[in-house]
Amino acid sequence: MNLDHARLLVVGAGLMGVGIAQVAAQAGHDVLLFDTRDGAADAAKAKLATTLEGLAAKGKLTAEAVAATLARITPVAALQPADLVIEAIVEHLDIKRALFAELEALLADDAVIATNTSSISVTALARGMKRPERLVGMHFFNPVPLMKLVEVVSGLGTSPEVAQAIHALAGRWGKTAVHARSTPGFIVNRIARPYYAEALMLLQERAATPEVIDAVLRAAGFRMGPCELMDLIGHDTNFAVTNSVFAANFFDHRFTPSLVQQELVDAGFLGRKSGRGFYRYPEGAPTLPPLAFVPPQAQRLVIHGSGFVAERLAARWPDAERRPFSHWTGLQADPLFLRLTEGNLARTFGPGTAVFDLPLAASGDLAYAGDEAAGPWLAALGYTPRRVADVAGLVVARTIAMLINEAADAVQQGVCDEAGADAAMKLGVNYPAGPFEWLARWDRKSVTDLLRALDLHYSGERYRASPYLL
Ligand code: NAI
Repeated sequence: MNLDHARLLVVGAGLMGVGIAQVAAQAGHDVLLFDTRDGAADAAKAKLATTLEGLAAKGKLTAEAVAATLARITPVAALQPADLVIEAIVEHLDIKRALFAELEALLADDAVIATNTSSISVTALARGMKRPERLVGMHFFNPVPLMKLVEVVSGLGTSPEVAQAIHALAGRWGKTAVHARSTPGFIVNRIARPYYAEALMLLQERAATPEVIDAVLRAAGFRMGPCELMDLIGHDTNFAVTNSVFAANFFDHRFTPSLVQQELVDAGFLGRKSGRGFYRYPEGAPTLPPLAFVPPQAQRLVIHGSGFVAERLAARWPDAERRPFSHWTGLQADPLFLRLTEGNLARTFGPGTAVFDLPLAASGDLAYAGDEAAGPWLAALGYTPRRVADVAGLVVARTIAMLINEAADAVQQGVCDEAGADAAMKLGVNYPAGPFEWLARWDRKSVTDLLRALDLHYSGERYRASPYLL
């Protein structure tokens, strides 16, 4: 099956439908655009024309390219036959099913129907179709022209040939396509849950402020911290996705929504759009104050452990004694013990110990807990130390470990492969690395040890390590 020259019908001329029509037309397809709202398709095309002409005025597109793209998009007043229909209508199971029934009465037997649903099971959408094998998920990300990822989602009845044809087509449109099996949240919306959930858990435990959580995760390479990101997405939307993934997994406790977020929704503090979420807008997140430290001194410096953290310590203190086979990683600066978190609380090691967070980057804000004498040492290493409550796995380490854990489950359950998970998270939500790239860098034993420590600490299902990692 080859859709290279397919004539397209895009149904739904909203935010996503118009973006999809644009990308398809730019790739040379003739596109019909339909919406049930009177005049919506015409209005959407007119708005697209303004946007593209604006880009041409800035020299980002040629006038000819703009004219050619617009000439290929035809608003239509009724559903019409096409080789490929891409559905981007309201996110509602029954309304989508009704549309597919109408389409099947109209389409040739070999026409393909792709749905841009972000949360409904493709398997469930196909129920009742005469030809369920022709329905496939083609999940774009917003804004469609800029976001590179397309999840190609196969339901139980989807034909592999159809999924492959959509995968190839997305590639021709300049996207990176990743195969996914239809399971709650598909790839990105599932694996990303812990990014929000761990931040909410830390807030619920009053372990750190939103400002500190955001700062240390930004320092770890994320474009936005989880709190500011939830403020941007809108707490109502984010909470609804979390609830739907939770319910769709038969209320598996690992996906339990947060009372902290529920309260924001109840208050109408929905984030940026309502002027207030974790932060107030338009001001947004306040910047944390810089900190100054007196250079620290020690009688004796010993670097424990191996791996990238020990190497970073050794590069800073090349004359320090090395204990590469030590059972912990960190710095002994007599009388202080500064340990890389393994998920245990600082206080379990007694006085004179601090635990520091996973330092993914070479500088920036870094969380630690325990003895305040750690601050100057972390500063000397190039970080801005941010003291948080003595909480298991601190901030970055537990977040990254849980992202890896969720990705591992997804792979074990055949939702996607490792490369697909990495590509999806980097391109769909701009993560600085994929979960399996982090796993390779950090090492499997440290990740499973951290998860086991968290599991023991919280004694529930939430932190159980994926069998795939074990
Ligand atoms: P939207 O509300 O901007 O657009 C939906 C359009 O569909 C509206 O213009 C509406 O009039 C039209 N429509 C509703 N029922 C229709 C029907 N039976 N036939 C024809 N047109 C109909 O929504 P948006 O954001 O574009 O979302 C569309 C789909 O894409 C949903 O399934 C959503 O879950 C999914 N999606 C949304 C993303 C987002 O960030 N907004 C990201 C990825 C997927």
